[in-house]
Order: sequence, then C-alpha cells, then structure tokens
Amino acid sequence: MSILDSNWIKAGESMGDVVPVFSKVIEVCDPKKAEISVTSKGVYCLYINGKRVSDYVLAPGWTVYKKRLQYQTYDVTNMLKNGENKIEIGVGLGWMMRDETFKDVKMIASVEIEKENGEKEVIVTDESWDYASSQTLYSNIYNGETFDTTKEITVLGKAVIDAEESKDVLIPQEGEIIKEHERLSAKEIITTPSGDTVIDFGQNLTGYVEFKFKGNAGDEFVITHAEVLDKDGEFYIENMRSAKNEIRVICDGNEHTFKPHYTFQGFRYIKLVGFTDEINLENFTAIVVYSDIKRTGHFNCSSEMLNKLYHNIIWGQMGNFLDVPTDCPQRDERNGWTGDAEVFVKTASYNFDVYKFFAKWLKDLAADQCADGRVPHVIPDLGWFDEGKDAQSSAAWADAATICPWQIYLTYGKKEILETQFDSMKKWVDYLDSIATGNLWIQEDHFGDWLGLDAEEGSYKGSTDMNLIASAYYYYSTTLLVKAGKALGEDVEKYEQNLENIKKAYMAEYLPEGTLLCNTQTACVLTLFFDLCEDKEKVTEQLLSIINEYGHMTTGFVGTPYLLHALSENGQTKTAYDLLLREEYPSWLYSVTKGATTIWEHWDGIKPDGSMWSADMNSFNHYAYGAVGDWMYGNMAGIKTDENAPGFKHIIFKPETDDRIDFVEASIDTAYGTVKSEWKKADGKIKYTFTVPTGAVATAYVGEEKYALGAGVHHFEC
Ligand code: BGC
Repeated sequence: MSILDSNWIKAGESMGDVVPVFSKVIEVCDPKKAEISVTSKGVYCLYINGKRVSDYVLAPGWTVYKKRLQYQTYDVTNMLKNGENKIEIGVGLGWMMRDETFKDVKMIASVEIEKENGEKEVIVTDESWDYASSQTLYSNIYNGETFDTTKEITVLGKAVIDAEESKDVLIPQEGEIIKEHERLSAKEIITTPSGDTVIDFGQNLTGYVEFKFKGNAGDEFVITHAEVLDKDGEFYIENMRSAKNEIRVICDGNEHTFKPHYTFQGFRYIKLVGFTDEINLENFTAIVVYSDIKRTGHFNCSSEMLNKLYHNIIWGQMGNFLDVPTDCPQRDERNGWTGDAEVFVKTASYNFDVYKFFAKWLKDLAADQCADGRVPHVIPDLGWFDEGKDAQSSAAWADAATICPWQIYLTYGKKEILETQFDSMKKWVDYLDSIATGNLWIQEDHFGDWLGLDAEEGSYKGSTDMNLIASAYYYYSTTLLVKAGKALGEDVEKYEQNLENIKKAYMAEYLPEGTLLCNTQTACVLTLFFDLCEDKEKVTEQLLSIINEYGHMTTGFVGTPYLLHALSENGQTKTAYDLLLREEYPSWLYSVTKGATTIWEHWDGIKPDGSMWSADMNSFNHYAYGAVGDWMYGNMAGIKTDENAPGFKHIIFKPETDDRIDFVEASIDTAYGTVKSEWKKADGKIKYTFTVPTGAVATAYVGEEKYALGAGVHHFEC
C-alpha cells in the first residue's frame, strides 16, 4: 500500500476562494518509523500536531501535471507521539490557477507507520477525512494572499473522493525542493512624494515578506510589491501588468508574525497601506525563495562594475529558478519560457548545480512535446500546444530541446541526461527535417531576435530575418543531436549527412557572396558561432562594421548570448571587452549604473532620462541577458569544458586578458573538485594560477605556449 493506493479527496462543497484544510486525527502506538506521502492539485502545506512538516515551500512544485505530478515522502517518525496525532494539509490554488477549467483543489496522501513489533499500518485519504475553512481567505500566485486572523477554523464536513482524478501521473519527487534561503532585513523607510509609505530591501528578489503586526480588531493591512521606484520616486507597479501582488491581513488586535504560504512575489520595495501600527523596520524581513540549488561558481575581478553585473546575474538566477526556469518572477507571467532557459543554461550551470533542476524540467519538456515533435514555447505548456492546436514552435525557443541537455552534459559530464533526453532531441530534429523547405526552416512566424534593438518602431522582434535565425538553429540543433548521438553510440549518420545540406542551403540563401545579405549583428553572430560560413574573416569584418556603425550592440535574446563569443573566437577580444565594459545605454553595465540589482529584460528598462520602457513588457528580473556570465567564466577567466571529456574531466584554461582589467579570479565546483583560474598584472607581467582538482587534467594556453597539466596548483607568467 502506498500513495498510489490512496484516494484523491476534495472538499464536499465549493470553498470559493478560501483555502481548505484537510485533516484527520490518527491513533498511533509505538511508531518505529512513520512516513507520509502527499501531493495535491494546488500547492500544499502539511502540518502534524500543528507543526509544519519539511521546509519545502510551494510543494509539490510545478510539472506537466496532466502527465507528471510529483509526490513527496517525509519521514515524520519524530513528529508523532503515542496516542492521537492530528494531520492537517492546507491546499492553495498554486500553479493550478494557470488551468482556467480547474475549479476545486484536491489532495492525496498516505501515512505509513511501522510499529516496534514490525506491524505496518497504512492510512489513506478518504471520506473519513475532514475538510475545514481556514484563515487564508484567498490565495493566488499572481495576486497574493488574504489572511484573516479573526476567522475561526471550522470543520465543514467530510471530504469526498474524486475518483476521476488520475493516480497514474504520480511520480516521486524528482527536482530540487523549493526552499526559503536568504533573509534580508529592511534597509530604509521611504515616504514617496505622493505620501506612500514604502520599505526598501535593497535587493530585487523573489520570495515574500515576513512581518510582525498587531493593529486593532478588524483593521486590514495591505502590502503591495514593486521592483523599482519611478523617476519621481513613486512606487511603480505598472510593469506587473494584471498581477496584483497584494498581501492582506485582517487584524484581531493581537500580535502576529505572518508570511504567505501559497504564493510568492518578485520585488525590492513594498508599500504599506492601512497600517495603524507604528512602522518599524525590524518588523519586516524579505525571505528569498528558490529551488534548493547549490552555489558552485564564483567570479571576481578588478572592475567593480563587472562584479556588480555578476551579482545581478546570480540574483537573476535565484529569482527565476523556482522549480522551473521562469522568464520573470513578478508580472502575470512567471512561465518556463524555453528560449530564456536555453540562452542562460550555460551560465546557470556554472553558477549553481542545476543538474537535478534541469533533469526534471527537461523531462517535462519531453512530456509536453507534441506527437509530431513540436516543442511548446513554455514548459509546462499552458494549453497553447494542446492536441489539435497547430501552434508553431519558435526557433531558439524550441531548440531548448537540444541545447539544454547538451549543455548539462558538458557541464556535469553525466551521460544520463543525454540518454533520457535523446528521444526528445531526435523528435525535435526529425520534426525540423519534416518541415524543412529546401533544407531551410522557413515558417511564417517566430519570436525572432526578441527585443533586439534594431527592431522596427513598435515591434518586439529585432530586424534579423526570422528564417535566417530559424535555419541557423536548425543546423545547430542537428549538430547537437549528432554530438549527443555519438556520445551515446547511437547511429546518427543520417543527421550528420544532412548537416552539409543545411549549411550549403544556408550559405546559398543568406550569404551567397560570403557576406550576409541580412546586415545585422545577430545574423553575423549566429553565422560565426554556429559555423555556417566558409570565410569567417569576412563575416567578422561585417560584424565589426555593424558594431562600429551603431557604436554599440543591437542584439536581442538570440544574438546577445553569442555576441562576445563570436567576437573573441574570431580574434576580436578587444571589441568583446569594449562591449562588456561599456556603461552607456545600451550595454550590460548600463543597468548597473542605474542601480540594478538583478538583470533587466530590456537594455533600457529605465531610460537614461529616468522614464520607463513601456509597462507591458518591462521586467527588472529577467535572467536572459545574464547569459554573458558564461563569457566571464569561459573567456575572461578562461575556464572551458572539453566536449570530448566533459564535466571538467579535461579542463581548458585559456584566459583572455585586457588592458582595462588588472585581475580576474573565478572558480567552478565540479564533480572532481574546484577548478580555479586566476590572473593578475604584476611587475609588468601577467601572472596566472590554475588549479586542477584530483581526477581531472587540463591544458593551459598561456601566451603562445600550451601546457599539459595534472592535478594541483600551477603558476605561469608572461
Ligand atoms: C517573456 C520572454 C519570452 C517571450 C517570448 C515574454 O513575454 O517574458 O522572456 O521569451 O515572451 O518571446
């Protein structure tokens, strides 16, 4: 007997917005071992005898619920006492709110108790469980939560079994659990020009506020959340779109400490409305919530501006790795956008150990992939790619199917990720083969070079030919499938042969004379980085000339991650540094000069004159442009993987120095230990130190020389 033999239960009546609590009192005698397995449609909080079980928040996490729903098993031996024990499970709507047809939350659980005498007892959820009202009158991931301390918890009746709900989809927990991490104290109370009381936590983050309050019986205190203040210093929430992000508490006149249970917000500032308590900074703490990924990467250099950018990259990841890689954590979106995940996966995998995180999400990608191979824009899909719908996959978004598993393999060296994802990778490339026109991927619509600065007025899509981008990714995805297939010993000859055809067709269509007809930075970058031309020098010259013409980068989501790589791989490291160190708009450091503490969605989220980019698409916590982090680790510090010995089994050290930087130090914790690269200017020379962990070997490139290194710390200078 296990949770699979239990029953889905729900409240016997519609509870409206109120979060129901399901409960049962169980009799326990001499428990030797006790485990409880739980999951819900919605997000749950589990209590035994009034005590919260586990530090997992927003359990059971977010997966493709219709096919894969994780349940969690907790060892509760130490929480049970002899005699009566009360199990309570509150279930909020959570991510189920994304399914408009979904009405009533439900849950399923089983308690397995082994007694000292070896006897086993299993208690399952059924009609013997009660359901009660709770003090949480409303909970919604986007809109927030309402908590009424004056409300009595009333048992309303017996739960009913929902026999329609499938148990076949239940799987044990696969991903990292979501947890509370950093606790940030409030930095400052601000009274805005229009008189609002605002608290600044000094850091844009994802999580929620824990606060102490008292009030008078019946008072209603409201906290709203914002990422930025506008140019007049006013609390700015237009960019949240329809997400209300409101936490409401109704006071009973006694002191309480409250934090939300079934929702999260993306914010740096909070506004307090209706507070009759004296406002005291000590009463407010921001709790940072994200998946339990372990930090593995560190970077530091002589440029404080770059260090701040790196800080913003890290916080951008923490803010958006909440069980699925989300685009942003604040507005009415918070989706697992494939394109965003794909551009950032390399940086993400250096910053933190995201193996488990991506292994789970990629299984969801495979689960949501259409029968014909199309990959939805967001995973979990929101019904946009349901059977019968002919939504088209977009280049650079859907290619997450090949790019993410391949990168996870390179960073961690575990073949399992390729084994598990190979069918999905193949299905994706087979789909592209099936729709290819003259070996090119031509279709009506894509996201294009999303948010590229060379976009036409009023458009979000940069001006790079969408089908050029698509065909370049068709080639790239096929390349990765071939590499993955070879690593696994699969027969990929057919795909390998096709590579030549795609490349020929691409060159004939897009650069018949050796330079790109589509004269954009992104077109040049993809052509160089994906190896889609014969004469790289010519395309590099073209790229440099467009950069010079503008005096800055113009790339969007597609071109930006590879821009510096395309330059430095083709002998233009100085220009790569020029772009990276630029502080004027547009540049990576521009947002830093504007006080950003996370990565912005737009190069000009806040414009030089202080006004905002349009409110409908202006997140201040969007990790995508943080993808530049992999150039900082891989080129500034020069730590690279070798695809023939992945997981840093063979490390390549190849730092690229620049006159404007005095030192760089970076490290990545790998399965072998910590890989470290440092260089600094001293006595008119550059001194390098490379650390190779036991079990790994390295090749170091210093000046014109190449050295084979074993485990240990190695010093060079030139
Ligand atoms: C998201 C992006 C995403 C895009 C698709 C937006 O609304 O926030 O990050 O990739 O849609 O183009």
